[in-house]
Amino acid sequence: DWTMGAYREEAIRLIREQVGDAKVICGLSGGVDSSVAAVLIHEAIGDQLTCVFVDHGLLREGEAEQVVTMFRDHYNMPLIHAQEEDLFLNALEGVSDPEVKRKTIGKLFIDVFQKHAAEVGGATFLAQGTLYPDVIESVSFSGGPSVTIKSHHNVGGLPEKMGLKLVEPLRELFKDEVRALGRELGLPDSFIGRHPFPGPGLAIRCPGEITREKLAILRRADAIYIDQIRKHGLYDEIWQAFVALLPVRTVGVMGDGRTYDYACAMRAVTSVDGMTADYYPFTHEFLGETATRIINEVRGINRVTYDVTSKPPGTIEWE
Ligand code: XMP
Repeated sequence: DWTMGAYREEAIRLIREQVGDAKVICGLSGGVDSSVAAVLIHEAIGDQLTCVFVDHGLLREGEAEQVVTMFRDHYNMPLIHAQEEDLFLNALEGVSDPEVKRKTIGKLFIDVFQKHAAEVGGATFLAQGTLYPDVIESVSFSGGPSVTIKSHHNVGGLPEKMGLKLVEPLRELFKDEVRALGRELGLPDSFIGRHPFPGPGLAIRCPGEITREKLAILRRADAIYIDQIRKHGLYDEIWQAFVALLPVRTVGVMGDGRTYDYACAMRAVTSVDGMTADYYPFTHEFLGETATRIINEVRGINRVTYDVTSKPPGTIEWE
């Protein structure tokens, strides 16, 4: 694509101009945005870039291994894998308010980031994969006071606290443009096509208090759901799909006995940019088959629902 080819060259020129011979650290989340930002910046300045991957224990099944393999082994990027699950999960104990969850995670993220960024030594820039929708969702409502619809932890706060200047090469792009740029940069299609995943991770797909037990149940159910979507060839038609584990137990029957386990909700939406969304019209067959798999294969879930809310008035995530 000639447009993205030109954008890439211009972005690389601007990054070099902005950064000079300074060191840059980049928070790598494993998502498309930060990955494209990292690869683009790596292309511009090579090993002046170090990536810090904060593993907050709220990632999906197999996700941390995939990220480390891809960037450390495949791209040969300097990468710090900060394994901080205990720190995050202990801090989240007893927390059920969605905004408190986001703030707790955001604050710790900054602490952990600062700690590991210090290992790099002498970095003066922080790279972020901020997109245009992140920018406008954080400031909009003209005339009135600046209002944050949701506190996206990847916007604001971090650079000021760390005394770092910001490099945000994707600030003008929408998601589909970031994907085109990623392809242009040679990232594998399987990776480019991945659904967006929020910074606070499974924390906002687990309404109510987060426990290790709930996270383990949610991870399994989510992996089965995504597997079903891939097997039916539907993954690329969907903007985002995931399971939310509900903070409610319901009664079920198994053999001669009763169960008293969690209910979960499957969510899948189509969207162009995440700002509005429609629920995905799965067939009843797909829904039934997937519910059966989840209930049979995941200990701890005995009821499966499908979320048919569009955005607005709903949001894509449950929190
Ligand atoms: P909502 O739920 O607001 O989500 O309709 C719109 C898009 O943004 C993602 N999202 C987040 N991403 N930090 C992020 O990095 C967050 O706190 C956050 N909240 C929502 C969501 O997954 C969807 O793609």
